[in-house]
Amino acid sequence: MIHVDRYERTWFVIVGMLMGSFVAALVATSLIYGIHVPSPAGRIDPTQLDNTEFATPGLTQDGEKAYTLRVVAHMWKFDFGVKGSMPNITIPAGSKVKILATAKDVTHGFYVEQHNVNMMLVPGQVSQVSLTFAKPGVYHIICHEYCGPGHQAMIAVINVQ
Ligand code: CUA
Repeated sequence: MIHVDRYERTWFVIVGMLMGSFVAALVATSLIYGIHVPSPAGRIDPTQLDNTEFATPGLTQDGEKAYTLRVVAHMWKFDFGVKGSMPNITIPAGSKVKILATAKDVTHGFYVEQHNVNMMLVPGQVSQVSLTFAKPGVYHIICHEYCGPGHQAMIAVINVQ
């Protein structure tokens, strides 16, 4: 029988318990709380966006206070189909918005101020999230992924009235 030092045995047990607690935490978050690693909502050819639903990005109304917002991110703008230097949309308070977004050129970020939305927009993938704008206000969408010399100007606005 191999001799294992008492301290080494103790550390085996501690490490084993630690690993066991990590696995238990993973299983619990997945099965009990339903938390999963985000996966793309679809695949898309970034060179052929003009032949897809992203050919005309922007806001469409699906029902009372229900909208879909299609966004194409590219250097260095979030394209909402709105002209002007600052892309913006206006919706009533309490609106539920399904956001479908993709990137045309490089990886961009999609962060919605004061909401639990933080997505990566990757060329070739469609990212999707649904969120409710409960309170009136001006909420910025910010690119949080360094995407080139115009990165810091990549901002859009959602006006909730
Ligand atoms: Cu787009 Cu940073």
